[in-house]
Amino acid sequence: MAKVTVIGAGNVGATVANAVAHTGCVSDLVLIDIKEGLSEGKAMDMMQTAKLYGFDTRIKGVTNDYAATAGSDVIVVTSGIPRKPGMTREELIGVNAGIVNSVVKSALEFSPNAIFLMIANPMDTMTYLTYKTSGLPKNRVIGMGGQLDSSRFTYYISQALGAAASDVGGMVIGGHGDTTMIPLIDRATYKGLKVKELVSKEVADQIVADTMVGGATLTKLLGTSAWYAPGAAAATMVKAMVLDQKKVFPCCVALDGEYGKSDICIGVPAVIGRNGVEKVIELKLNAEEKAAFDKSAEAVNKTNGVLKEMGLVK
Ligand code: APR
Repeated sequence: MAKVTVIGAGNVGATVANAVAHTGCVSDLVLIDIKEGLSEGKAMDMMQTAKLYGFDTRIKGVTNDYAATAGSDVIVVTSGIPRKPGMTREELIGVNAGIVNSVVKSALEFSPNAIFLMIANPMDTMTYLTYKTSGLPKNRVIGMGGQLDSSRFTYYISQALGAAASDVGGMVIGGHGDTTMIPLIDRATYKGLKVKELVSKEVADQIVADTMVGGATLTKLLGTSAWYAPGAAAATMVKAMVLDQKKVFPCCVALDGEYGKSDICIGVPAVIGRNGVEKVIELKLNAEEKAAFDKSAEAVNKTNGVLKEMGLVK
């Protein structure tokens, strides 16, 4: 059975830990934070639900003790500041790049074979930063954003149709920013039917617009970033890795010629299994989708450029 570490025991990190424990596929989970007592307290609270929910994952909370994370199969990076209402994910780059760089380095020392699942924002750029600075192969650095955005997309579709979200299929590719994500509305389905044939153009456009600002809408309501859907999205990906499920998730991966791009980490569908990214799936994008993907990649590259200006990436 697998061992998983979650770095950052805040709203998102703790929810990831809780959701992973509920999958039942992980024997040991370590929650680590810099705030004294936070991980320990949240881990103990979760462990006191083990009897009630019937899970057997051992959850341990530690403060800054990376030795406790040794031998992890998957490391989920949530440490970083969340956005406040009115902020974009990209505005977090300065602070979060420093945090992400240091935690990845510490974690890698004790878990040299781990797969890194990146959640801290701006997620595409934090994934790129980790890929470029850690020396890890591209299959072992993955960003979670597309899986979350796709879940939000299917939520908005299900609301518009008055249907069950589990009956809806939809995928979001591109960057994980409010203006960079690409909800693939032409391909969205409801039980084999095309969503576009079931709703008016206005409704379809609204679904896309709502999805793109899905995170910002929640930040406005909550005063900080959301955590339930990010936690659940990460848990589905952790499960696919530790159980070698080889499931397809839209997620942020390093491209090396696929979609005509290289030297970038951006959202595309990928097969996820024991080796992390097992395969990148190349969709045959139509002209409109391709133009949107090119524009999105340009914006992600621009944000990545800040890392270069900061001297963090060559
Ligand atoms: N090492 C470990 N933990 C750290 C470090 C560090 N160097 N720096 C900060 N943290 C911890 C904080 O102490 C805090 O407990 O990361 C946690 C972040 O938790 P929250 O402030 O609750 O933020 P959260 O909502 O969980 O978001 C975390 O995920 O979705 C993204 O945009 C979001 O970048 C943000 C990240």
